Amino acid sequence: MRKPLVVANWKMNLDLKSGPALARDVADGLRRLDSHANVDVAVCPPATMLTTIAQVLSGTGVAVGAQDAYFEPGGAFTGEVSAAMVRETGATYLIVGHSERRHTIGHLEDDRIINLKLRAAQHAGLLPILCVGETLGERQAGQTLDVLTFQLTAGLVGARLTGADDLVVAYEPVWAIGTGLNATAEQAQEAHRHLRNELTRLIGPLADAIRILYGGSLKPDNADSLLAQPDVDGGLVGGASLKAESFLGIIRAAIGTRAK
Ligand code: PGA
Repeated sequence: MRKPLVVANWKMNLDLKSGPALARDVADGLRRLDSHANVDVAVCPPATMLTTIAQVLSGTGVAVGAQDAYFEPGGAFTGEVSAAMVRETGATYLIVGHSERRHTIGHLEDDRIINLKLRAAQHAGLLPILCVGETLGERQAGQTLDVLTFQLTAGLVGARLTGADDLVVAYEPVWAIGTGLNATAEQAQEAHRHLRNELTRLIGPLADAIRILYGGSLKPDNADSLLAQPDVDGGLVGGASLKAESFLGIIRAAIGTRAK
């Protein structure tokens, strides 16, 4: 049985006034939801806000995560922060391999870098959220499942995989992120089922405990059908996480889906 997890990815948005205010609104709204104990929630703010948001959310049950960290433990890496530094802020999750880091930002991360970051996260006591997903071209060429197999397998080389506390996977089709186009429930379930089968191939029945989140234009009005799929265990939410009301709407949908 997997407890749903809903994660906010604020990306490079908000500031030291609006960020803590939103975090407070999310925590207050969550407390008022029936059965809020049946869902895990985390918020991933920009790195400069991690400590503040961790303090605001301390004791509320809402966890904090970072959007990135460098894989080296320390040294001459100007501009980077290590996974241990992230852990020190009070954060407990780390997003790795987000499509914007694979395809949009700076030097474009490859699967080797992503794997090193995932292992650094585990080493520092952070729960990695490994993002995988195909581009539109790859989907149109019929390569979706192969891309997912490759990114998952490459991302997990040498990782500790003993259960739900070691890994979260997020399926984020690149063509659905920030575009307003979401995967259909069937497309999401096909991808999630495939990822679960691949995890089973790697680690056996323990794969049943690992949560696989859907991300890509997830909103309150499409969350019910996506989150109800048997292998969809929650969401990684970008745009709709920037307003408490819409983020809470997705959390409500996650609570409403049957325990899987
Ligand atoms: P979106 O972003 O919800 O704005 O599509 C999702 C993500 O990038 O994690």
